[in-house]
Amino acid sequence: MDSRVALMSFVMVALLMKGAAAGIHTVNWTVPSNKSAYTTWANTSTFYLNDQLQFGWSGTHNVANATKDEYDNCLKTAKVLTSTSLTLIDLNTSGPLYFICTIDDHCESGQKLAINVTNVIGPTLTTPPPPPSSASALAVGTLFAIVSSIIVTSFIYRFILY
Ligand SMILES: *[C@@H]1O[C@H](CO)[C@@H](O)[C@H](O)[C@H]1NC(C)=O
Ligand SMILES: *[C@@H]1O[C@H](CO)[C@@H](O)[C@H](O)[C@H]1NC(C)=O
Ligand SMILES: *[C@@H]1O[C@H](CO)[C@@H](O)[C@H](O)[C@H]1NC(C)=O
Ligand SMILES: *[C@@H]1O[C@H](CO)[C@@H](O)[C@H](O)[C@H]1NC(C)=O
Ligand SMILES: *[C@@H]1O[C@H](CO)[C@@H](O)[C@H](O)[C@H]1NC(C)=O
Ligand SMILES: *[C@@H]1O[C@H](CO)[C@@H](O)[C@H](O)[C@H]1NC(C)=O
Repeated sequence: MDSRVALMSFVMVALLMKGAAAGIHTVNWTVPSNKSAYTTWANTSTFYLNDQLQFGWSGTHNVANATKDEYDNCLKTAKVLTSTSLTLIDLNTSGPLYFICTIDDHCESGQKLAINVTNVIGPTLTTPPPPPSSASALAVGTLFAIVSSIIVTSFIYRFILY
């Protein structure tokens, strides 16, 4: 294959993979061995408005939308959003959100997650795109961004390489 075509394909695949993954936070939802596991996990991520959470598990769990009180005290009055693993949950309110598992004593054992959703939509719309050559640094979340990056890329290739 022509090396330029190969490089271009690589850039496009990298962009598409980034695009498909952006905004979905995968949560390994289980009774953790460390009660602070989910706090630690949440602290390493930024949750943007309109992102989604995807809780995945095996065994019997659920995801309930809790108030702070229900979260703090593991109250089973929290509204169950899903009992089906891998259901996507929309984060379309900014501010704190609390999720607990209401099965048995799972919540008391640390199966609870508090996040704080920012009031801005993901980084793809707020940060300028980096140079096309550093595709791995991109966080592309929209088709618009993907398409425009590809157009920019092909422009630069046309001028530099031809
Ligand atoms: C999820 O967590 C469980 C328990 O800590 C662990 O055994 C499992 O490997 C994890 N799965 C993934 C996909 O990280
Ligand atoms: C539990 O997580 C906290 C916070 O990350 C950490 O300081 C502590 O060492 C962890 N404990 C165990 C037993 O892994
Ligand atoms: C998570 O971050 C909050 C606020 O920055 C901090 O108070 C808390 O100690 C952190 N928890 C863990 C387990 O890292
Ligand atoms: C959780 O409940 C609160 C209060 O009713 C609501 O504002 C928020 O959108 C809900 N979030 C989810 C993910 O269901
Ligand atoms: C998120 O927005 C969609 C569409 O506007 C709405 O149907 C859904 O109920 C919202 N979800 C939450 C958790 O607020
Ligand atoms: C959530 O984040 C906002 C700003 O991003 C901050 O003002 C607020 O105090 C945070 N709330 C919590 C409960 O951490």
